[in-house]
Amino acid sequence: MEAAPSSRCAGASPPTHVAIIMDGNGRWAKARGMPRAAGHQRGADAVRVAVESCRELGIAYLTLYAFSSENWKRPPSEVDDLMSLLRLYLRRELANLHRNGVRIRFIGVREQLADDIVQLIEESEATTAANRALTLTIALNYGSQDEILRAARAIARDVKDNTLAPDAITKQRFEGYLETVGMPDPDLVIRTSGEQRLSNFLLWQSAYAELIFVNANWPDFSRATLEEAIGEFHRRERRYGGTGS
Ligand code: FPP
Repeated sequence: MEAAPSSRCAGASPPTHVAIIMDGNGRWAKARGMPRAAGHQRGADAVRVAVESCRELGIAYLTLYAFSSENWKRPPSEVDDLMSLLRLYLRRELANLHRNGVRIRFIGVREQLADDIVQLIEESEATTAANRALTLTIALNYGSQDEILRAARAIARDVKDNTLAPDAITKQRFEGYLETVGMPDPDLVIRTSGEQRLSNFLLWQSAYAELIFVNANWPDFSRATLEEAIGEFHRRERRYGGTGS
């Protein structure tokens, strides 16, 4: 049997890994009679706030769900808006993030992305690879079921090639095939806008995460929203299938 993860919520220490499903940009804009693009723009501002707040609070890993593999179903103009915002964010923020010791990582399938975005991703990852203050992972064209399927296929290939024995496929070994390899599992998953779903985000990795659903739409996300979620996280008792103390 493999060991349960150790509890990391003792005292007031911050969660190690916070993952966020940024939802409600469209509703934020609609409520103000603005186009959806305006909601996404304000959403990109909230990304800056979230990154800065996590860094200041000593959170080591922040993972943001920026674009799911299902988001291609949106109108092409909205997909373009979202990709342009990501471009802008990386071009404008890379130097600042690097200066502040933020490591940038991306998870998700890169093949369908525009060449210049892939270049920006590679540049951001390479420039910041040695930074340790905060690891910011952006999930872009990401779907958890697809990630698990790709891992299963890669494992099947290694078994077929006799480089991996079926009995050697432990939890740890399996996780080595996921895109999040080397990252601790999220302790806390926050979803904004009041929706209560995981929507294909880090399904394997969130097995023991605390899920916190906040009513604020993503553009209104602030340091106070994050601190309230962390407060709630600390009030919960994480038992990992045990009986607690
Ligand atoms: C959900 O709101 C939000 C998204 C699908 C995209 C999140 C993208 C950003 C915050 C902007 C850029 C990202 C980065 C990392 C710079 P929704 O459109 O589903 O809102 P709705 O449910 O109210 O319609």
